Amino acid sequence: MEGLFITFEGVEGCGKTTQAKLLYEFLRQKNIECVLTHEPGGTRISEKIREILLDSENGEMVYLTELFLYLASRSQHTFEKIMPSLKSGKVVICDRYFDSTLAYQGEGRNIPKQKVIEINNFATGGLIPHLTFLIDIDVEKGIERIRERKGFDRMEGQNTEFHKRVRGAFLSLARENKERFRIIDGSKSIELIHKEIVNIVLNFI
Ligand SMILES: Nc1ncnc2c1ncn2[C@@H]1O[C@H](COP(=O)(O)OP(=O)(O)OP(=O)(O)O)[C@@H](O)[C@H]1O
Ligand SMILES: [Mg+2]
Repeated sequence: MEGLFITFEGVEGCGKTTQAKLLYEFLRQKNIECVLTHEPGGTRISEKIREILLDSENGEMVYLTELFLYLASRSQHTFEKIMPSLKSGKVVICDRYFDSTLAYQGEGRNIPKQKVIEINNFATGGLIPHLTFLIDIDVEKGIERIRERKGFDRMEGQNTEFHKRVRGAFLSLARENKERFRIIDGSKSIELIHKEIVNIVLNFI
């Protein structure tokens, strides 16, 4: 594998999409070939699965169905888009990846963590990001930021307690995987966070 696989993680409204896009634009300006993508989604088939996952009318979805749909979306995304891009030497920037599954379905939904890791590795051929930014922020603050968006999707509609457990799970993951994780203070300004991320990525390249 020649490229660089960078993921952005964190609770709703922490700034993942904002920072992923800024990093992508920065690298493009430096003439570094890169791909900006996101989960769930990123390919035609994966986007169809995303619609099922985020539809607030699918309230009866059981947790294992949710888990397998995320993984189905990820398999398609990984093999159709991420791996080929990495093989051709590109930087792949992905807004959420498997740490989100561990945090939301593992910790949030109480599905045994070892099982989630095992089937995730099966679904992705064992692909692990080289660098993961955890943008950490107070759950209420994150929710406050996205409140203006119209309607809550199925995951966003969970209670604050759920999101607090998810935040805790992300922090534990970062502590357990220090070599690839960088924890970023999401309460800083967009510009400051962007600079911090750029510095880390440039050191990594
Ligand atoms: N550091 C920041 N300070 C203040 N506002 C921010 C910051 N970062 C992002 N925002 C704003 O907060 C909102 C949510 O940001 P963004 O969409 O990037 O979060 P996200 O982590 O992708 O959320 P989601 O998990 O819902 O996709 C946006 O309106 C964005 O402009
Ligand atoms: Mg986002």
